[in-house]
Amino acid sequence: VDLDALEAAARGLLTENAWGYYSSGADDELTLAENVVAWRRVRLRPRVLRDVSVIDTSTSVLGIPVRLPVLVAPSAYQRMAHDDGERATARGAAAAGTVMCAATLATVSLEDVAAAAPDAPRWMQVYVSRDRGVTAEMVRRAAAAGYSALIFTVDLPVLGNRRADERNAFALPAGRLMANFGAAHPSVEGGSALAEHVRTDLDPALTYDDIGWLREVSGLPVLVKGVLRGDDARACVDAGAAGVVVSNHGGRQLDTAVATADVLAEVVDAVAGDVEVLVDGGVRRGTDVVKALALGARAVLVGRPVLWGLAVGGDKGVAEMFEVLRDELARAMALCGVRTVGEISRDLLAR
Ligand code: GLV
Repeated sequence: VDLDALEAAARGLLTENAWGYYSSGADDELTLAENVVAWRRVRLRPRVLRDVSVIDTSTSVLGIPVRLPVLVAPSAYQRMAHDDGERATARGAAAAGTVMCAATLATVSLEDVAAAAPDAPRWMQVYVSRDRGVTAEMVRRAAAAGYSALIFTVDLPVLGNRRADERNAFALPAGRLMANFGAAHPSVEGGSALAEHVRTDLDPALTYDDIGWLREVSGLPVLVKGVLRGDDARACVDAGAAGVVVSNHGGRQLDTAVATADVLAEVVDAVAGDVEVLVDGGVRRGTDVVKALALGARAVLVGRPVLWGLAVGGDKGVAEMFEVLRDELARAMALCGVRTVGEISRDLLAR
């Protein structure tokens, strides 16, 4: 079993509405495809004769110990994949020994996500509303519910053009709410209900000052997600970010934006060790994880693979997806001649 097989299994289980929403990218889906291809293009220079009889995939992210350098990326509306939705994802992540990122647009409230895996580490993804009071209240609730960091998504001032959602007139199925607000989507005539939500609710006027604002109102460290340039990463750090997530939103926002694998090194070098750098987009193999760490990422996040695991097997499916990646990572490390993630360095990569 690998993630490709899991994807195929999930596809057969989801409605057209849900599959279209989870799988689609923006416009011609070039960045969506390129994210995967860019990792695959990188070639490894393995070391030999390094005694790899014991491999340790564990590390820490923002000081949180994890069993593998792979975290749950925030993704919306998980009760479209499985009735237990984000609750199951939280349990699966806990079983895998990693961090769950809950989404602003979750179909289970952040308090219920916390209650599903009370002892496990969790972060809260944030979309900032035009009504700042709404966001301030949500991030204070997150702090109160034991979330230890915010992931501030900054690459969605407007919604990317997801043609599948327009075609399907994407909407949350009956009985599924934006649970953090106890609200349904605004109703729309045709088109995507998410596009309408973004248009009416989210603030397109965000600036670097909002990093400090979120930190102040929540009291939590803020990771900025959606950065693709070294100069922007530097500006985030200077504005008080506790970390940067190199991301193009899974190819769902600006089509033809650069693949994350291709800009990770630039961001890592610009940040110069001041904060941890994470990356997401197209990670499907243990070798992809090795490459990301070799380029300087502290860890990677996976989004769609979590949803595939969730669709196929609920919390167990999520845990199993992480187990597959962990096995692949351990094998790739052994074959690269590294025993710990700390030994993964840029010289493992061919130029
Ligand atoms: C929401 O963040 C989405 O990408 O659909």
